[in-house]
Amino acid sequence: MDIRPTTDQDLDVFVDTLHAAFGRFPETPTERGGVWWAALEMDRNLLATTAEGRPVGTAGAYSFELTLPGEILVPASGVTAVGVLPSHRRRGVLSAMMRHQLTELRARGEFLSVLLASEALIYRRFGYGPATYTQRLTVPRHQGALALPRAGKTAGTPAAGPDTGTVELLRRAECGEILEEVYDRYRRAQPGALSRPSRWWERGAGQPPISPAPRYVAVHRDAEGVPDGYASYSLAEPNTLTVDETVAADDAVFAALARFVLGHDLVAQVVFKHFPPAHPLRWQFADFRAGEVSGDTDWLWVRLLDVPRALTARGWFTDGELVLDVDDPFLGEHGRYLLTVRDGEADCVPTDREPDLSLDVSDLGSVYLGGTAPSTLVRAGHIRAHHPGAATLADALFRAERPPHCLHWF
Ligand SMILES: CC(C)(COP(=O)(O)OP(=O)(O)OC[C@H]1O[C@@H](n2cnc3c(N)ncnc32)[C@H](O)[C@@H]1OP(=O)(O)O)[C@@H](O)C(=O)NCCC(=O)NCCS
Repeated sequence: MDIRPTTDQDLDVFVDTLHAAFGRFPETPTERGGVWWAALEMDRNLLATTAEGRPVGTAGAYSFELTLPGEILVPASGVTAVGVLPSHRRRGVLSAMMRHQLTELRARGEFLSVLLASEALIYRRFGYGPATYTQRLTVPRHQGALALPRAGKTAGTPAAGPDTGTVELLRRAECGEILEEVYDRYRRAQPGALSRPSRWWERGAGQPPISPAPRYVAVHRDAEGVPDGYASYSLAEPNTLTVDETVAADDAVFAALARFVLGHDLVAQVVFKHFPPAHPLRWQFADFRAGEVSGDTDWLWVRLLDVPRALTARGWFTDGELVLDVDDPFLGEHGRYLLTVRDGEADCVPTDREPDLSLDVSDLGSVYLGGTAPSTLVRAGHIRAHHPGAATLADALFRAERPPHCLHWF
């Protein structure tokens, strides 16, 4: 078997091989684009071929920016388009592509890789751990009244108060660059969010509202008329208004958009897809039981390629010291690091001090963005805590300013 990088000339064979791996036929591209593969970066993809040159496996990478806790933006590779023909599975083709890809990512100087997993059993062995989570929130309209608390009287975090903005209803095709601009502002402040490079919007790649599928979009504008939020939705199912994504500059804007969709006549229920866990909206309903959570699942998986660089890159909110013993079986590496956090900045250096925690690099990926408490992984038997206070200290250290969440599908 051979693994080679692709070029633009390989686009058709790459897409065909991948579709065969998933057992699907490619849909016909629409006039305005809209196929998911329109944003592939063919200079970053790999094709695995047999000795006779027959393509049997694919793996790709997008160039994203990931928001870390502390509103820090770093480059991250978004691994994508992974597939092996059913006739060539369980012979190590994926393992070979993963090894090739991780080596190449490191050679590019990248220290973080992310992906969405089709199945949860595939990627832990390659050092990825689930790091952000997402849910679906279903709200019967008759229970969906919002009882917003008193407006934020304390300085600092903007609390959800009375809305001073307006909501305009547009069709997807009328939105121009509004969605791209609002999304970009939102993702810079949301830990776990990924950039959506312009080519995604230009080419209509991905899922609605990036793709040009017919949608209504409620666009929220602030008191000065500047767009600061949107909810794109459709009424595909009977009596159900389904919101693809709600993107808002702050919680007050999110509440205003929720009020808008929940006020839609002739609808029995509103489904918020990609609802962030621990979002305050549930506390803003008069009836705390108004929203029913379902489809609670992992979304973004994270893989650290350089532990000290990754740990010093993110923002920290509690001072402390922790010795981490990190095992990376797939790359055959092991390291013990002293993490020292002072005034929001971290230092991370090799050490031979006794460890506080021993963990696999995939578990470090899970706790890295603050969406998984280290103590949960200690209780699950994944992470070993060497003394009683270690997990509590790690929980305090790895916490983010708010739970990480990723809306982007790739
Ligand atoms: C997932 C997929 C790419 C795996 O490719 P592959 O070449 O068969 O994988 P490998 O032979 O390198 O497998 C490596 C190890 O992972 C395990 N593994 C691979 N896919 C697995 C799966 N879906 N579930 C459980 N274990 C899996 C293998 O059993 C093997 O374990 P071992 O080392 O203990 O023997 C392939 O099954 C596929 O194309 N599936 C459909 C498309 C898909 O889901 N792609 C992933 C998109 S995120």
